[in-house]
Amino acid sequence: MADRETDVSRRDFMKKTAGAVGAGLALVRNRPVYGQAKPIFKAALIGCGGRGGGAIRDSMAACKALGLESKIVALADVCQDRLDRTLAGLKKQGHDVPANRCFIGYDAYKKVMDTDANMVLLCTPPNFRPPHFAACVDAGKHVFFEKPVGIDPVGCRKIIQTGEAAKKKGLGVVAGTIWRHHGPYIGTQRAVAEGAIGKIVAGRIYYCTGKLWFKERKREWDDAEYMVRNWVSFCEMSGDHIVEQHVHTIDIANWFMGGPPVSAMAMGGRARRKTGDQFDFFSVDYEYPGGIHVQSMSRQINGCCRKGGQTFVGQKGETNGCGRAKDWEGKKIELPKVKTHKSPYVQEHIDLLDSIVKGQPLNEARQIAESSLTAVMGRISAYTGQLVKWDEMMKSDLALKPTPEDFETGKVKAPPDDVVPIPGKA
Ligand SMILES: NC(=O)c1ccc[n+]([C@@H]2O[C@H](COP(=O)([O-])OP(=O)(O)OC[C@H]3O[C@@H](n4cnc5c(N)ncnc54)[C@H](O)[C@@H]3O)[C@@H](O)[C@H]2O)c1
Repeated sequence: MADRETDVSRRDFMKKTAGAVGAGLALVRNRPVYGQAKPIFKAALIGCGGRGGGAIRDSMAACKALGLESKIVALADVCQDRLDRTLAGLKKQGHDVPANRCFIGYDAYKKVMDTDANMVLLCTPPNFRPPHFAACVDAGKHVFFEKPVGIDPVGCRKIIQTGEAAKKKGLGVVAGTIWRHHGPYIGTQRAVAEGAIGKIVAGRIYYCTGKLWFKERKREWDDAEYMVRNWVSFCEMSGDHIVEQHVHTIDIANWFMGGPPVSAMAMGGRARRKTGDQFDFFSVDYEYPGGIHVQSMSRQINGCCRKGGQTFVGQKGETNGCGRAKDWEGKKIELPKVKTHKSPYVQEHIDLLDSIVKGQPLNEARQIAESSLTAVMGRISAYTGQLVKWDEMMKSDLALKPTPEDFETGKVKAPPDDVVPIPGKA
């Protein structure tokens, strides 16, 4: 039967794919075969920055790999120049988004909800993730969202709650924690869970790298725009770099350890930054259930040792978490080979789309919310100088200000540059 391109609404799309699955959808060379219609994934992007452009490309590549049609139906940002740049890039590749579907402003995400997009890619700075995710799920849209998904306990818990609502509605939710979608990691985690290195007794995780960008403030920028354009400098936007970057590795630790830690005892400080209010380095001792400790280091200072990745130490041997393991005699431990797309950025979209088509939507909301909150817990411990417990994070009413709502209502006051928490006093 020849495939016919059909432009379907989200509801029709869900019905059609569910019908196809019910009728015994066959997978031929990883390509779903549909009855008469080939569903179109209509994607909207919120946050037209570096990663947003990448997520569009990856989502389209995933559609191609699965034999699905894709279309970009709406764009949203708060900065006209960022949206224009993304649109120009799309046009070069032969895609257009009409002007009446390009939305600007802090409420632009709400306008996306009124479009026929059935998939939304959330790629703004992470402080906006909780309300944007909630709006998507309310509107019945599938979601790909970038990590991290929250910067404070209230926001992270809101993601868990919204994730549960997404489950009830049968919506797919996948996070940008790429390593969960990469063959060498998947094979190693599986083998470790089955005892390849024995019970894990310790771990080490690293995200020590150089500095990121900073944009000098322009006279015409208000506080909100200054913070948005320099979001990687403000804890209230990024969660600090332990949350924004190191969440990738913290997520791997939670994955291998089977869940989040029970507490964090951390230290950190600031040595080079002059702007914003973030630290330059963190060292955290995470304690997992059973008294197992994972030592974590993250840093953003040039000219220092750069080190990323992880090691998990078991009773029988150790592993780098992604394809290598050896026993205590130094003998290689064989790990299963899991084949995935060469780019985990594409694979995560393949997994999301394929799960939706099969009628068994993936839902990664809780795992990424917990990993974001694990990073937040490390940050709070370093800022305050106190031991912080997971139970406290699950109850804390800490919501950093300015909140996403403050941006929408125009009430943003940027925190002063170069004033940071002092452990023992904060
Ligand atoms: N998975 C990965 O490997 C990876 C890599 C890079 C970035 N990221 C994540 O992706 C996200 C975005 O990072 P980026 O590097 O693209 O940043 P960016 O600054 O390049 O892009 C962010 C965009 O969001 C827009 N924006 C800000 N607030 C908005 C709002 N309220 N509504 C709509 N648009 C808004 C900005 O104007 C900007 O265009 C972050 O969470 C980051 O941690 C993930």
